[in-house]
Amino acid sequence: MIILNLINLKRLVLNIIKTKSNVLIWYNKKRFHRGINTFYSELYGCQVIAKAFIFSYSNPFVREFILRALKGKTLELNLNNLIEGRIDLVCRCISNSLFVSNNVRRDVVIHIVLEGSGDPPRTVSFFGETIKRLGLDEKSIAIILKNALYIGKGLKLGEERDVQDGVKISKKSFEALIRERKNIYYLHTKGKDLREVKFSKDYVFVFGDYIGMPRKTESLLDRLGAKRISLGEKMYFASHCITIVNYELDRLITVQ
Ligand SMILES: C[S@@+](CC[C@H](N)C(=O)[O-])C[C@H]1O[C@@H](n2cnc3c(N)ncnc32)[C@H](O)[C@@H]1O
Repeated sequence: MIILNLINLKRLVLNIIKTKSNVLIWYNKKRFHRGINTFYSELYGCQVIAKAFIFSYSNPFVREFILRALKGKTLELNLNNLIEGRIDLVCRCISNSLFVSNNVRRDVVIHIVLEGSGDPPRTVSFFGETIKRLGLDEKSIAIILKNALYIGKGLKLGEERDVQDGVKISKKSFEALIRERKNIYYLHTKGKDLREVKFSKDYVFVFGDYIGMPRKTESLLDRLGAKRISLGEKMYFASHCITIVNYELDRLITVQ
């Protein structure tokens, strides 16, 4: 049985053609519209056996990125100095993960774990599926981060608050986030070539910022069975890595 989300329509069609298997359609209630009927009828060769009005970011087909920003400030941002704590880099990662030309990647979630001065940790999560009002440029994204930190003031460990559509802030550590996830891919220059990796259906990519990943965290990633994958020998910016991963996965899905 294949469990699918509408976002993965292309993959769905390809799998149907390949396997002619039973399909459980799993879609977002908000997206339910008349078109879905056409969609059903087009599922030539397979039997639709159930519908589920369930969607959350634990959806197994969401492409998830987790960036650890070791110096990212956790209480207050200075919009006139985004270099401080390398918020400029963080903003580029958010932009590269969520946008393609003229569109938002609805199947992407990115979590930014800020661990700099103030009241660490703070995790700001952006959900492509529901995001609205997100500018492409660093300053606009930094304004959302600043607002998120303001809303997140006083959060207790494990607590979460809504910032705006598709953006949440929580007081959650990097370790806690990765412990909740399966099939983690840790981006590392010495890992297995990404092009040789047979990906499972859920993608959680974790990577360090300009400082890199602390040794202790690397050991935890190893214990959790994270697979190290490489984009080559050159050390890229974290924001470059996101673009490369998005590109490679786009190709994989298109040519599968
Ligand atoms: C700017 S780099 C970190 C540089 C840091 N000084 C270091 O030595 O780790 C940011 C992150 O991007 C990822 N990265 C960069 N180049 C990569 C590559 N060629 N393959 C896989 N991951 C890469 C790693 O996760 C790295 O922690």
